Parts: sequence; C-alpha cells; structure tokens
Amino acid sequence: MDIVTPVIIRGTGSFVPEQTLTNDHFASYLDTSDEWIVQRTGIRKRHKAGPGESTSTIAAEACRRAVTDAGMDLQDIDLLILCTATPDMPIPSTSCILKHQLGIEEAASFDISAACSGLVYGMVVAGQMLTTGLFKNALVCGAEVLTRYCDPEDRSTCILFGDGAGAVVMSKSPDPERGFLYNNLGADGSKWDFIWMPAGGTREPISQKVVDERLHYIRMRGRDVYKIAVTKMQRMVDDALAACGLEPNELSMAIMHQSNLRIIESVRTRLKLPPEKVAVNIDEYGNTSAASIGLALDAARKDGRVKEGDLILLMAFGAGVTWGTIIARM
Ligand code: UT7
Repeated sequence: MDIVTPVIIRGTGSFVPEQTLTNDHFASYLDTSDEWIVQRTGIRKRHKAGPGESTSTIAAEACRRAVTDAGMDLQDIDLLILCTATPDMPIPSTSCILKHQLGIEEAASFDISAACSGLVYGMVVAGQMLTTGLFKNALVCGAEVLTRYCDPEDRSTCILFGDGAGAVVMSKSPDPERGFLYNNLGADGSKWDFIWMPAGGTREPISQKVVDERLHYIRMRGRDVYKIAVTKMQRMVDDALAACGLEPNELSMAIMHQSNLRIIESVRTRLKLPPEKVAVNIDEYGNTSAASIGLALDAARKDGRVKEGDLILLMAFGAGVTWGTIIARM
C-alpha cells in the first residue's frame, strides 16, 4: 500500500443555497410524482440558487469554510482550481471571479470542466502540481448552479439536478503514511452526446431559434448513462482496490458521485459495505455534479465518519463521459 501522491486533505468546506425545491413542487406542474422521483432516483429535494447567487458566489462560501477548517489564511493558497460545468459566464474562467471574491492575491487559477467527475479531476491535478513542488497549498472546489441549465418543462432532467459547492484544501503530506494511494482519471469522448447542452457555445451560439427550441438546456440519455455508469463504477472500484491490494472492508468510507441512489447501492452491494460506510446526500441535494463528492466528504469529516488516518475512496462518473477514482489515507 504505497503512497503514490504524497498530498493530504487539510480542510474541507461546503455550502448550499437556502432555497429548496421539493418533489411536490415539480409534481404541481409536471406529469411526475414524489413516488416516481424517490423510487427511481432517491431524491427528495434539491437546493436552488437565489437572486444574486451564481457558481462563483456559492463556491466562495465553501472555499472560505474549507480554508478556515484547514486553519489557514486565504493568502496561503497559491493554486485555485474551480471544477464546474456551470460557469458564471464563458469568459473569463469562473475561478478568476472566485479568486477576486475571495481576495486571494497570489495564486494561479483555472477551471476544470469534467462535469460530475470535476472534483476528482481537480484533486488529482492539484495532487500532481503539489507533488512536483510547483505549488504549496491548493484550494480545489466543485461548484454548480445546475438549476439554471435545466429545462423546467423537461421532467426527465429538471427533477434530477441541484445547486451546491464543496471545497478541499490540499498540501504536501507531512507524514509518509498519509496521502493518495491511487489516482485514476479517464474519459470516453465517443459518448459526448449522452449528457450535453446543444447550444450556447461556438458550435451553436445563442440565438432566438436556440431559445425557441430550448437548445440552451441540458439534455440527457438517462437510461444509456445509467447502464454505463453502473457497469463502469463497479469496474472502477474493483480496479482501484486491486491496484492497492485492499479488501473493501479496509475502507472507512466510500464517497461516490451522487447521480442515482440505485447506482450507489449497486456499488455498495458489490463491495458488501454497510450503509454507514457509504455516503449518501442525493436525498437532500439531488445530483449536484462536481459538488456532490465535496459536499459528502465535508459532511463525513464534520460528523466524525472520516478522521485522520482513515482510508477513503472517492469515485465519480459523469458527462463527457468522464470518470475518476482516488483512494486516500487521510
Ligand atoms: O450525473 C451524471 C451521471 N448521470 C447519471 O448517472 C444519471 C443516470 N440515469 C438515471 O439516473 C436514470 O436513467 C433516470 C433517473 C434519469 C431515469 O430513470 P429510468 O428508470 O432510467 O427511467 P427512463 O428514462 O427509462 O424512463 C422510464 C419512464 C419513461 O416513460 P415511458 O417511455 O416508459 O412511458 C419516461 O418518460 O419514465 C418516464 N419518466 C418519468 N416519469 C415520471 C421520465 N422522467 C420522469 C419523471 N416522472 N420525472
């Protein structure tokens, strides 16, 4: 069980907007029901950004909390990575807007677009940049305001997604026993149109036609994504544990992207892990894409389910399609 990336998670923070949308809200104007949504997805409610809130503002709150949790000052951060599929605007990167809001003076900052795998991508990238010594302290945040990308008239997507942000502070490990034992990132671009937003970019800029045809909203081939997500995540966890020579019961906690409770349960059953070792927040937050793992990791640390020295699994799969896995000794 060698440490391959000698970095630790020093602090975590998260934030969700105050306003919530219940399943009954959607059932009040769409042909859907609380029962269908709970049975098929596990979602009971989701949070929605209010006026004046955007991806950068909710990310800022999660970032401040993570830096405070790490016992550091914002000026200690020299690398800021924002992982999002829902930027404030196409130009500039939302990380620069975030950096300005946080008042961080000296730091490289950029966005990572890897959808639901965003935070795992960001943490692996930060881990490599810290290991080489190029940077000392990284602040990596997964944040999304997906409710503004969802078509409120499309019952197959609008019920799924929610808004939120989760952040981690990472530094070089002071202890040779603590760090990442495994990092894996991947993508299959042939499935780019399994989850996509047809317009709003250079291929189909915003126009009246785009708005009339509702092409500026997320589209998803839900059933196709479901099938590959289940198969892929089961294989990812097997590969990760085998590479580290670990048995599932050696994990203190498995924190997977929250896209569907049935997908999470299928991986949990395969690992024969008790429910308390597998993070679930989809009931409360819906699918928050790049934010979901950060939200769950922060909650698990704050309520003592993840402690220093624990072995944790982080695993994500999402649009692109992209995927990523980390096994870390906290
Ligand atoms: O985060 C990125 C990765 N994302 C995922 O991993 C999402 C993976 N996909 C899923 O979680 C599931 O496919 C969904 C939850 C999106 C959909 O569940 P499903 O069991 O795969 O349903 P389906 O798409 O096969 O649709 C079954 C039926 C359809 O009706 P017909 O054609 O059988 O008459 C849909 O029109 O359910 C209908 N349906 C709904 N009914 C009530 C779709 N959405 C709804 C709805 N309420 N909200």
